[in-house]
Amino acid sequence: MFRWGVLSTAKIGREQLLPAIVDSENGVLSAIASRDLSKAKALGERFGARHAFGSYEELLASPDVDGVYIPLPTSQHVEWT
Ligand SMILES: NC(=O)c1ccc[n+]([C@@H]2O[C@H](COP(=O)([O-])OP(=O)(O)OC[C@H]3O[C@@H](n4cnc5c(N)ncnc54)[C@H](OP(=O)(O)O)[C@@H]3O)[C@@H](O)[C@H]2O)c1
Repeated sequence: MFRWGVLSTAKIGREQLLPAIVDSENGVLSAIASRDLSKAKALGERFGARHAFGSYEELLASPDVDGVYIPLPTSQHVEWT
């Protein structure tokens, strides 16, 4: 199973990506990070994430994440990639 990490609580994640991960047969939602831990926890609980982090750095350092989806404002894609 591929263990996804998602950087932020963005609309595209809430409405499209997270439901698709939950429905998939070969992936699990391992972690969600937000600049606001309470937002990460709330969204994580809704989609069954194993971890919620209050910073993007913590998610990137997690050994429980195989790959990261980056639904940040476009101007931040290069930095976080
Ligand atoms: N919405 C769509 O239908 C759609 C479709 C295709 C592609 N995309 C792409 O997906 C990306 C996200 O789009 P979205 O519409 O889902 O965005 P969004 O709802 O505005 O979410 C962006 C997230 O980025 C985080 N963030 C970090 N720094 C920020 C800042 N300075 N200002 C605002 N947000 C900041 C916030 O998460 P935290 O507060 O949780 O940290 C925020 O929830 C964009 O690159 C967009 O082009 C979106």
